[in-house]
Amino acid sequence: MAFAALFGLPAPAASSDGSILTPKPGPGPRINGPPVYGARPGRPFLYRVPCTGRRPLRFSAHGLPPSLRLDAERGIIRGRAPEKPGEYRVVLRASNAHGRTERRFRIVVGGTLALTPPMGWNDWYTHYDRITDGRVREAADTMIASGMADFGYQYVNIDDCWMVKPGSEDLLLGGEARDASGAIRPNRRFPDMKALTDYIHGQGLKAGIYTSPGPLTCAKFAGSHGHEEIDARRFAEWGFDFLKYDWCSYGKLAGGTTVEDRMRPYTLMGGILKRLDRDIVFNLCQYGMSEVWKWGASAGGHCWRTTGDLGLAKDTRLPGFYSIAFRNAEHSDYAGPGHWNDPDYILIGRVGNARKIHEPPRATALTAAEQYSYMSLWSLMAAPLFFSGDMNSLDEFTLNVLCNAEVIEIDQDALGRQGRIVRRTEEEFVLAKALEDGSVAVGLFNLSEEPRQMAVSWTELGIEGSRRVRDVWRQKAAGAATARHAATVEPHGVALVRLLGSAKVN
Ligand code: GLA
Repeated sequence: MAFAALFGLPAPAASSDGSILTPKPGPGPRINGPPVYGARPGRPFLYRVPCTGRRPLRFSAHGLPPSLRLDAERGIIRGRAPEKPGEYRVVLRASNAHGRTERRFRIVVGGTLALTPPMGWNDWYTHYDRITDGRVREAADTMIASGMADFGYQYVNIDDCWMVKPGSEDLLLGGEARDASGAIRPNRRFPDMKALTDYIHGQGLKAGIYTSPGPLTCAKFAGSHGHEEIDARRFAEWGFDFLKYDWCSYGKLAGGTTVEDRMRPYTLMGGILKRLDRDIVFNLCQYGMSEVWKWGASAGGHCWRTTGDLGLAKDTRLPGFYSIAFRNAEHSDYAGPGHWNDPDYILIGRVGNARKIHEPPRATALTAAEQYSYMSLWSLMAAPLFFSGDMNSLDEFTLNVLCNAEVIEIDQDALGRQGRIVRRTEEEFVLAKALEDGSVAVGLFNLSEEPRQMAVSWTELGIEGSRRVRDVWRQKAAGAATARHAATVEPHGVALVRLLGSAKVN
């Protein structure tokens, strides 16, 4: 193997035999999650410190603004953000019987949310039109029990189909979409939305909801057209923290196909959300029309889908996530703290078929190497990380892909750069992401059907000097390099490394 040949070390490429590359977290505490967090002045604040290590853990926080309180047993910070805009430098600490740790955490109070890409779970690709209050609660429970929340997964998001379906004869789904005052009603599978978000918040997690600017959602449930203000206010009263706003049936009302026509519904909702006494992350879903990456942020969006649905993407020679990634990767100039390109959800583990939504979730057909590539691409592209597979059948391999703290650190890096395309040929794709500490994360993706020797030079990366190489999936030092990095990479797989600045000791 080229890597071994060059440095006398084992190759860092992902394996395709189902082997688990991510080491299990140790018994001592390790604080994970974003190093920086945005909140608006005086708004309700909730943050569960993601931390691995054996429970019981004990948390403390130095420098926390007085309007916030930390639950020392559970590591949940609650309260209201300070009224005064500015940067609040906090030191989070965690300890248990096996050790102690601390980590800097900057709370930036101002106008910007989602200073790092949002992370969580979305129900769409598992539950489709079967989503219920109980399934959402179960997902929140599993986000904690599986340890996902300890790595930074935080949002538990309801997609389409929570509202009434006009004209439906199904007793649970049909009925009046709105009450006498015009307020949106959930269908009978959601008896009490406020109780549901209270339940999610009780675990320190956040809750997301979905609607459309059109009269109907994509699954033909009631949308928000003509009720934007009342719906947004209701979502805030219910306690939601995230809104996905899906174009769907709005096309007929748009009046045309100019940028203004495409922006209008998002600018309207974005403006309403800004006036609410609640921080709501705004996710634009309109499949990339009119180059949304160029104006999504000015419409108030924190992230925007850049393509059609990943679950409907056709597999060509490569799995569909690759073609979505190639397109999303083109827009790296438009991503940054508070505004991210969204290439859609992570569909691994057991996951439903978007073309046959009534079939139960099945094990992904992706190879292990492809799954490592998927997660590496999303992290290098600073994409929102939303798993949308079945939370009830998470296996060890899937969790190892979703929960590698060093991979997630690349996604959540405070500099907020989206990785740039270094090379794209029929056989090779190389992405490089500059990180806040001066290191560079590089993914060498082998698009061919054979194992392949791949390399990237410092000239291509625009860096100089000796760099220590970190094998990110294996979380292992992998020697040093001075001019190039090379690896043998599995078919459709990746070698993901972090090239550390020579001065930094890890
Ligand atoms: C569209 C969106 C999907 C999902 C469905 C729900 O297709 O792009 O992500 O929300 O609608 O109907």
